[in-house]
Amino acid sequence: MSKVLIVFGSSTGNTEGIAQKLQEIIAAAGHDVTLRNAADTAAAGLAKGYDAVLLGCSAWGEEELELQDDFLPLYDEMEAMELSGVKLAAFASGDSSYTHFCGAVDAIEARGRDLGAQIVAEGLKVDGTVSDAPDAVQEFAAAVLAAL
Ligand SMILES: Cc1cc2nc3c(=O)[nH]c(=O)nc-3n(C[C@H](O)[C@H](O)[C@H](O)COP(=O)(O)O)c2cc1C
Repeated sequence: MSKVLIVFGSSTGNTEGIAQKLQEIIAAAGHDVTLRNAADTAAAGLAKGYDAVLLGCSAWGEEELELQDDFLPLYDEMEAMELSGVKLAAFASGDSSYTHFCGAVDAIEARGRDLGAQIVAEGLKVDGTVSDAPDAVQEFAAAVLAAL
């Protein structure tokens, strides 16, 4: 059994819905999953004690990429999470009509890599809600589970 932390930043509940589904799938596979809202979460030592961390964050910019409000402080302080050697994957709900479709996923992966995390699944970018992409969510979860 692995310990998995899922943290999401979500303004209208779409990324939260993906996070909940991921929790359900990974917990059903027998792992110990903690789900946290970025709004109530601090970066310092966040990854400590976890085998894997899944970070979900929507994007709200127009021309420029802007990360979801609650997640932004965590992103800015990602180095404090102690991610070195930790299995990491990113996910988001977004809207493919925007320039930076699910842009937070790429940003989180890049910073995580720089901080020594091991990216264990290709970032999950859902155009809409969890019910628009059930297969993609399952595939992402399967990739994470295979790495645990
Ligand atoms: C002003 C505005 C800017 C947005 N910018 C982006 C963007 O850059 N990339 C993207 O994929 N979606 C963008 N969106 C769409 C939201 O990210 C999308 O609705 C998402 O599902 C919200 O997820 P949340 O409920 O988890 O916050 C934008 C929406 C608005 C209203």
